[in-house]
Amino acid sequence: MDKRILITGASSDIGHSIALKLGRRNATLGLHYHHNGQAIAALQEQLAEHSCISHRLPYDLTQADNARKMVDEFIDRFGRLDALINVVGPFDYRDLNDVTVDSWHTVIALNLHTCFHVVHFATPYLCQTRGHIINFAFSGAEHIRAWPMSTAYCAAKAGVAVLTKSLAVALAPKRVRVNAVCPGLVEEGATTTVERQSMAAQIPLGRPVRPEEIASTVGWLVYESCESLTGSFIAVSGAWEY
Ligand SMILES: NC(=O)c1ccc[n+]([C@@H]2O[C@H](COP(=O)([O-])OP(=O)(O)OC[C@H]3O[C@@H](n4cnc5c(N)ncnc54)[C@H](OP(=O)(O)O)[C@@H]3O)[C@@H](O)[C@H]2O)c1
Repeated sequence: MDKRILITGASSDIGHSIALKLGRRNATLGLHYHHNGQAIAALQEQLAEHSCISHRLPYDLTQADNARKMVDEFIDRFGRLDALINVVGPFDYRDLNDVTVDSWHTVIALNLHTCFHVVHFATPYLCQTRGHIINFAFSGAEHIRAWPMSTAYCAAKAGVAVLTKSLAVALAPKRVRVNAVCPGLVEEGATTTVERQSMAAQIPLGRPVRPEEIASTVGWLVYESCESLTGSFIAVSGAWEY
């Protein structure tokens, strides 16, 4: 039977790549985005070439009620939910001395609250299907380090890591699996910034991660990985930790 999968942040590079990978495997997809409807339209055209059924879901997920509406819309449309891929998680790079109350709240809301909101409303449906939640952290998020140039982002992702482990324990009796993919530095147009160049120079493998590599990992998690693989952080990072 085809899997029915909800991807948040499908308009991002990584979300796009995941959608294409899962679409090619005959999944039926809910494609969440916030503002970038153009990216979703282009993605849906590509998916249609593979006869993949998809449905667009534009929601601001910092608002809990929107997450509820999104999950309800997905279920009304597709009837069940087999996997939730929580991709949304914009990076924030600024000196801790320049962090404002507003920027702190925004970054935590976008990275941690969005994840919890969707999980919260999706979990009852995932319990019905013995489904799978795949969250997104970053390589090394599970270690508490000093990250003075991205403290809010890293604090939020550490929160996602704790949420992932806790959900894995809480939902294991229901046979719902919960894992986190932890990318290293991923290729993107902005690789030219000084900060990204200096990070890229430290990657032991010698290059940033390709979005397709993240997508392949998600595809493997959803379709091939074993039932006991839950509560895990899967680094895809060329052996680099942020
Ligand atoms: N890129 C990297 O090098 C890297 C490294 C480590 C970890 N990661 C993690 O991997 C994941 C994907 O990263 P990415 O760089 O491809 O994309 P990203 O930074 O997560 O892209 C932003 C996504 O968040 C959505 N979004 C923005 N505001 C929102 C809101 N209020 N409500 C709901 N959605 C909202 C955007 O939608 P619209 O564009 O439609 O507005 C877009 O899809 C993230 O969790 C990120 O932290 C990335």
